[in-house]
Amino acid sequence: PRVAVIVVAAGSGTRLGASAPKAFVGIDEHSILRHALDGVASAPSAQVVVVVPAGREGDARTEAEAAFGDRSDLVSVVTGGETRQRSVAAGLAALWADVECVLVHDAARALTPPAVFARVIDEVMRSRAGVVPARPVVDTLKRVDGAVVTAAVDRSPLVAAQTPQGFPRELLATAYADAVDEHTDDAALFAAAGHRVRTVAGDDLSFKITTPADLDRARHLLTPSRA
Ligand code: C5P
Repeated sequence: PRVAVIVVAAGSGTRLGASAPKAFVGIDEHSILRHALDGVASAPSAQVVVVVPAGREGDARTEAEAAFGDRSDLVSVVTGGETRQRSVAAGLAALWADVECVLVHDAARALTPPAVFARVIDEVMRSRAGVVPARPVVDTLKRVDGAVVTAAVDRSPLVAAQTPQGFPRELLATAYADAVDEHTDDAALFAAAGHRVRTVAGDDLSFKITTPADLDRARHLLTPSRA
């Protein structure tokens, strides 16, 4: 199958408190975007679209060349939008005509293992549904009204959704073209258009780098142990 991966990296990263847009913040000697692209480079993709903030297109091209080497002609760089949904739409607009399966991935999930990409692609091709990598919910959940707990929530039927999320390209493109509301993720937008969504196993390493503590965690995971 002809697979494309859209890497959304156009967020500002306000919660990280860094001066640069989040994807361009360093984890070790490499940025969040570079680590994300190293993971994507291991997937069997025919096209990669990197969506970045206005003014960062040249920097993204440099990162893509470092990650993809002599395959960097697979990579398109486009400018993102105000919301994640608009950034994904900008990525979809840049897909080549022959792409059949599209994955949408948060650059902020920079340490996502290659096996997750493979599981998502295989399940899209097998099921023709939308596919979400999922993890069990570990925290105890409460429903609240302000500071007051109103109910305990049974977590057994719940999962936490990660990326890359995969879709048959035509179905996702149509769902985006018809979308009126903002959705929390691509799978929610896809489901709102009436399509099925399935899960595959996600991975703890696919956590999203959002806060300074998440960045520390990524740094520790990349530091060779001195034991
Ligand atoms: O802000 P958050 O971490 O939830 O964003 C998830 C992903 O979506 C990040 O990789 C971020 O760069 C991307 N994003 C985007 N365009 C926006 C907002 C977020 O590409 N306007």
